Amino acid sequence: MSRTAPLKMTPDEFRAAGHRLVDRIAERLARIPQGPVKPAETPEDLRAALKIDRPLPEGGADAATLLGEAVELLFDHSTLNGHPRFLGYITSSPAPIGILGDFLAAAVNPNIGGYAIGPAATEIERQTVRWIAEFIGFPSDAGGLLVSGGNMANFVGFLAARAAKAGLDVRKTGLAGRERAKSPLLVYASAETHTWIQKATDLFGLGTDAIRWIPADDHQRMKTAELRRQIELDRKNGGHPFIVVGTAGSVSTGAVDPLPEIGSICREYDLWFHVDGAYGALAARIPDVPADLRALSEADSVAVDPHKWLYAPLEAGCVLVRNPLDLRNAFSYHPPYYVLRDDVVNFVDYGLQNSRGFRALKVWLALQHIGRTGYEASIADDIRLSQKLAAALRAHGDFDVLTQNLSITTFRYVPKDLRSRLGEASVEERLNQLNRDLLAEVEKSGEAFFSNAVIDGRFVLRACIVNFNTTDEDIDALPALVARLAEKRMAY
Ligand SMILES: Cc1ncc(COP(=O)(O)O)c(C=O)c1O
Repeated sequence: MSRTAPLKMTPDEFRAAGHRLVDRIAERLARIPQGPVKPAETPEDLRAALKIDRPLPEGGADAATLLGEAVELLFDHSTLNGHPRFLGYITSSPAPIGILGDFLAAAVNPNIGGYAIGPAATEIERQTVRWIAEFIGFPSDAGGLLVSGGNMANFVGFLAARAAKAGLDVRKTGLAGRERAKSPLLVYASAETHTWIQKATDLFGLGTDAIRWIPADDHQRMKTAELRRQIELDRKNGGHPFIVVGTAGSVSTGAVDPLPEIGSICREYDLWFHVDGAYGALAARIPDVPADLRALSEADSVAVDPHKWLYAPLEAGCVLVRNPLDLRNAFSYHPPYYVLRDDVVNFVDYGLQNSRGFRALKVWLALQHIGRTGYEASIADDIRLSQKLAAALRAHGDFDVLTQNLSITTFRYVPKDLRSRLGEASVEERLNQLNRDLLAEVEKSGEAFFSNAVIDGRFVLRACIVNFNTTDEDIDALPALVARLAEKRMAY
């Protein structure tokens, strides 16, 4: 008896639905610049449009119709990071070849936990990791793998460090017990470090008290004299320093820590040197970026996100570990139900995941699609546009630009009548509220999208350009646009 499988589509049905889907997507992508970055609607409006209270459908529906409706719903009701004026967070516009790559990856559907169930995909992931290492100037024989994003990439580096430097068999004994109480494992990171470090120390058993927050200087860079002082003090008191995190492009302002000094301190005290380059590492070889970025090549591990500055559609993070054995030593187990060849890479031995999807394909295709020089030009252009924005905001007169690093500009609106009173507590409070409101006003307008930072207590708007759709015209328009929205807000 032949099986009736309702999920199946005939090749002709698949082809027709797919062609129609690609046509609709191409059309909606082309129209993005004419529409809002974010639709003006409440969560209730959105839920109503999605008919979110519907019960689970009992029977089936036509695939092409469903896909057609989904395209319209999603493009009408999403915050579109492919919009030229999406400058929020550090989330890139999606590379078109990456969009198609994800489609192809799902069609082949390899599981890249084990070589046998994803041989081509495993080799492609290895090549992608090597190319990323090459692109940022990290040794190309390093180990590494793709993960979901910056948090996970940093977690992998952190866990490799923990296994290598804990000074006890931490994978077996854990951190509880006498060893920990006598000599706690300690982590060093600047106060500007992304919050992944809190999650890592919390989730992997050290607790957030294990973090030694090293103060940053006026340029948001770790004070390495403080780092050294703290390490010395902790050692004297019986602590067990094991990792220092340097940031290559901080989440708030794009600041680059003094990586050469951090590297040499790590060597001196035999500590693991991890670089969080989730955002900035991909700019390491671009002319005129801070020279310190290049010293990420000295790290034991680096987190670097293709879904940031390689413009890969979400999700794609990557971790590189100088010695591939450190990954195996942190993650590998060999249960009897997995018989894996040992003359090849089985990625299950190298990270947190067991079953793993084909994230590498979209990155691998994009790296070939525009090549090293294409990427270098695009990243350099993002940086140029960010510098241009900072200059335009300064020239406008109603804004203070607080920082400009890599492709992040932070700024705040300062009404003329408050300009002479900057620094007064009540004025600073008013400015913080005004700029908080302004951020919401910009978002509501749909005309642009920023995120925020807080710098020395000052609430600022933050424009991060990891967006190959943003043009000079967009940048030219922004100061007047934001000033208009600020005036509108003040008139409420
Ligand atoms: C420096 C830095 N590290 C880590 C992360 C976390 O990355 P993800 O959101 O991909 O997990 C970010 C996110 O912006 C970041 O800027």
